[in-house]
Amino acid sequence: MKLANKIAMITGAGSGMGKAAAILFAKEGARVAAVDVNEAQVKETAAAIAAAGGHAIAIRADVSKSDDARRMVEETAAKFGPPAGVYNNAGIEGDSNYIANMTEEQFDHVIAINLRGVFLGMKYALPHMVKAGGGSIINQASIAGMIAVKGGAAYSASKAGVIALTRVAALEYGRYNIRVNAICPGAIETPMAQRIRKGEPPKPRALNRISVFGRMAEADEIAKVALFLASDDASFATGAPFVIDGGWTIS
Ligand SMILES: NC(=O)c1ccc[n+]([C@@H]2O[C@H](COP(=O)([O-])OP(=O)(O)OC[C@H]3O[C@@H](n4cnc5c(N)ncnc54)[C@H](O)[C@@H]3O)[C@@H](O)[C@H]2O)c1
Repeated sequence: MKLANKIAMITGAGSGMGKAAAILFAKEGARVAAVDVNEAQVKETAAAIAAAGGHAIAIRADVSKSDDARRMVEETAAKFGPPAGVYNNAGIEGDSNYIANMTEEQFDHVIAINLRGVFLGMKYALPHMVKAGGGSIINQASIAGMIAVKGGAAYSASKAGVIALTRVAALEYGRYNIRVNAICPGAIETPMAQRIRKGEPPKPRALNRISVFGRMAEADEIAKVALFLASDDASFATGAPFVIDGGWTIS
C-alpha cells in the first residue's frame, strides 16, 4: 500500500475528483480527513470509506473562510495526527462571463474559494507538517490556469494563481522536506463538468477538441496522479504543475 499509516486531508471530498482521491487514498492505507462545505456529501464519502474497511472522518468546512480552514486542519490533527498529505482540491467553476460583464462579486467569489482557499489550506497545514518533519501538498489547479478560456477570467486567474502559489510554497518549504505540486486536469467527467454542460451529454466534436483520445477522463484517473504525488514515489517532484489533460493543450 502506497500510503500505509499516512494521514491525508482532502478538501472538496464530497464529490468528483476529491471524493475519488479520498476513496483511493484510504484504499492505499491512509487515514483520511474528508473535508467539504457540503456536509451530507462528505459524510457519504467517509461512510463509503468506512464500509470498505478504511479510516475516515468527515469535516464540514468552507475553505474560503479562515476559521473553517484552521479548524479543518486542527480537527484532522486532533483525530489522526498531523496530515502528511494535503490535497487542496475544493473549487468552483463560477459564473461564465466576458470580463466587461463579469461582476466584481462573481470574480471575488471564485478567487475566494479557488485561490484563497488553497492559500488558507497551506497556511494552516504547513506548521503541522513542518513539526511532523515533512509531507506532500497537492493543489488543484487546471489547464485553465495555462490557457485562456472565454468567459473564464476569474477561473483562469484563480488557477494560474494556484500554480504560482504552489511554486512559492515549494521554494519556501523544501528545506522542511515538504513537497508542493499542482495538478492541472483537462476535461474530467464530474458533477462540475455536468453542471457546465447543463446536464447535456458531451458532443463528439467537443470531445475531439478537448482530448486526443476523444473522451473526458474519469475522476479516478486524476486521483491516481494525486496518489503518486502524495506517495514517496514522487520523492523528487516539487513545485511542478502536472498536466493531465489527454493532450488538450498540446496543439
Ligand atoms: N471537472 C473538470 O473538468 C476540472 C478540470 C480542471 C480542474 N478542475 C478542478 O478540480 C477540482 C474538483 O472539481 P470537480 O470537477 O471534482 O468538482 P465537483 O463540483 O464535482 O466537486 C467539488 C467539491 O468541492 C466542494 N466545494 C466547493 N466549494 C467549497 C468550499 N468553499 N469549501 C469546501 N468545499 C467546497 C463542493 O461541495 C464539491 O463537493 C476543482 O478545484 C476544479 O476547479 C475540474
